[in-house]
Amino acid sequence: MDKNSICKINIDALLRFGREVGFDIYIRLSDDKTIKISHAEDYRQVLPKYKEKGVQYVYVVKEQYTQYLEGLKSSLTNKFYNPSTTPQNQIELLSDSYQAVRESLVQFGMSEVALSVAEELSKKSLDVVSKSANIYQFFMDFKKNCDEQLMKKMMVSYTTTLMISNFDWQTAAIKEKAALSCILSDIILSAEELAELEAGKDTPDQLSEKVYNHPLTISKMLQKGGNIVSKETAIMVEQHHERPDGAGFPKKLRHTTITLLSAIQIVAEDFIENLMATNFDHRLHDEILRKFLSRYYQANFRKAAMSLCKMFGMDVPGF
Ligand SMILES: [Fe+2]
Repeated sequence: MDKNSICKINIDALLRFGREVGFDIYIRLSDDKTIKISHAEDYRQVLPKYKEKGVQYVYVVKEQYTQYLEGLKSSLTNKFYNPSTTPQNQIELLSDSYQAVRESLVQFGMSEVALSVAEELSKKSLDVVSKSANIYQFFMDFKKNCDEQLMKKMMVSYTTTLMISNFDWQTAAIKEKAALSCILSDIILSAEELAELEAGKDTPDQLSEKVYNHPLTISKMLQKGGNIVSKETAIMVEQHHERPDGAGFPKKLRHTTITLLSAIQIVAEDFIENLMATNFDHRLHDEILRKFLSRYYQANFRKAAMSLCKMFGMDVPGF
């Protein structure tokens, strides 16, 4: 088999897919020898055996994988609103799509079909969160069955779009661009790298190069091959770990050069992390919001923090 027609996929990512993958799976014995180890229907029995032997990656035919992505896109479009699709199925569909977008980004770079899955995933994520009774309930209902990273991103995305709604320049298109940035911001990072990020975000200079540079790396991937995503989305991804005082990374920007959309995403993510740290204790909302008004008082960050407060019905003079 021509090595250019196949691509490498992590076994764990395949095993996390919540449904049949629909493509054959191969291993490579040498540069010019590839053997099929599984047909689409039996991969769940076959792959764990290879994993036990220490195999971490398998191969799939690129064309079949692209077809799989197209299938996911149409499932997200068609199955999502089918009355027999339960909220649980919806979450599984979103989790599968997230894994698939991550794998295709890591393996091929961002292709058009992967981006269209990401856009659909982003829109449907907002839909699921906005229909749930409250954000805490959403988290409790789905945390067992959804990639935790995706779960958090969905909440950040939802909060970001609600914050944008408080500005008179808001449009549905700009909210979609912002939501896409929230979903894609960490997409190339593994669970271990996310743990590293979580532990080291206050001392970013000690992060590994990949983790430190992920905002730039992802932003570049998204822009490769022309204007595949909007400029706004790419800038938000690039700036999502910057901080108003220059203590962020990777460019150590200050508040004067961080866009309002980026500031909104940064504040929304910080807010969701604070909520998660309090186990969604709603009694602490006001305390967090007051803390945010003093933490984020400069330029675009002030507007973002005020918008967050307004979202919770706080009186914010001057906004
Ligand atoms: Fe990140």
